Amino acid sequence: MPVYTVSHVQNIRICVVMVGLPARGKSFISQKIVRYLSWLSIKARSFNVGNYRRRQQSHPSADFFDSHNEDGLKIRAEAARDAVVDMMKFFNEEDGVVAILDATNTTKARREWILELCRENSIEPMFLESWCDDEKIVMNNIRDVKVSSPDYVDTDPDTAAMDFQKRIEKYREIYEPLEVDTNKDLTFVKLINVNEQVIINKIETYLESRIVYYVMNLHIKPRSIYLSRHGESMYNLEGKIGGDADLSERGWQYARKLPNMIKNVLRINGEEEEDDDDGDEDVQLTVWTSTLKRTQQTASFLRYPKLQWKALDELDAGACDGLTYEEIEKKFPQDFKERDENKYEYRYRGGESYRDVVIRLEPIIMELERQENILIITHQAVLRCIYAYFMNVPQEESPWMSIPLHTLIKLDPRAFKTMVERIKADIPAVSTYKEKGTSQLGEIEDANNKSKNLITGAPSR
Ligand code: SIN
Repeated sequence: MPVYTVSHVQNIRICVVMVGLPARGKSFISQKIVRYLSWLSIKARSFNVGNYRRRQQSHPSADFFDSHNEDGLKIRAEAARDAVVDMMKFFNEEDGVVAILDATNTTKARREWILELCRENSIEPMFLESWCDDEKIVMNNIRDVKVSSPDYVDTDPDTAAMDFQKRIEKYREIYEPLEVDTNKDLTFVKLINVNEQVIINKIETYLESRIVYYVMNLHIKPRSIYLSRHGESMYNLEGKIGGDADLSERGWQYARKLPNMIKNVLRINGEEEEDDDDGDEDVQLTVWTSTLKRTQQTASFLRYPKLQWKALDELDAGACDGLTYEEIEKKFPQDFKERDENKYEYRYRGGESYRDVVIRLEPIIMELERQENILIITHQAVLRCIYAYFMNVPQEESPWMSIPLHTLIKLDPRAFKTMVERIKADIPAVSTYKEKGTSQLGEIEDANNKSKNLITGAPSR
């Protein structure tokens, strides 16, 4: 069952055509859109023309991009064609809904060509230009992304940065930005200096407006997102799901330890200016909890602004709320089996499925994109869904990820991937993890004594 049936019923297919000079964050935006839409079960893929070009020319110097370089022009035109052929296959043979043509597309002629192809294939073109004259942003992009680009492998970073700046100038010579006056018939969004100013023109479909809203909320300031489950609860001790129980004694220990754990990670991040008597008051961090007691008790010793979200409440187990998995297996054997077979789609009687949780979390994700440092204290299923968004975990895997109690997860979203670190509190807690096919709790460990389903990332410290 797709989330946005509208795109399927109306058979709307959108080609997001990126526009902009190199180092304007186009690939970053493309990948974010794909991750966001995929998380919402909308089939999306990005086609990066640079990757196609690298098949023929893997380490080009700036001169390769000169508009008079015949060989360069030929190879680049072929790369664009190859990307577009694959993109059309994605639409026509794989039921793709949103494709992103991640390329510079800086000339009117190139855009006309894509427009024509889209028209012939009944695909809605939507241009997304990233325009930027803020040197600081551009230089950061050059440093962060391009110096680590496959084009500059084994190149000294300064030489790479200089060559890349020359490449930008080659593109600038022929760049024809989108303008409201001359492009008033096109569907387009123009982001100016990330999101300082946004020009929106002729956005017609719901899906286009979702994409626009999403990109308007993106920012590139460095920040971290911290995730934690609530401390161990009385229900956890009894193996019961749902409810609104208090913390156990060990859960309270975790709550008391959390302020120091947070303080330490913020300090390591260099976000804490200097130690003062009160420690953590001048650090910009906001704590988000659910409306349930166990998350608020876990946050109770933290001295940061706090916000409660109903949308962060645990997956509603409906008729199974307050039962153990053994009781569920006895009382609702068919449901127990169905849930194991398709945990993402299974909806508890009178309750929710993982898919339902993802839908209600969409505003949380949107707000998270807008915010800077946030600590989210919430519940197992909800954390799995949020983690899946940042780490691009496929739907069939996300409900089976192990997210242990008394562990802080630190996410650092970077240009092309999110870095992750797990910090254990070293306070024992029961395992609430249920393997497929059993009603017993606890994780099966492999020969190296590692849990099979632990979320990936750097070793815990
Ligand atoms: C590239 O070849 O790196 C990018 C091609 C383009 O979009 O201009």
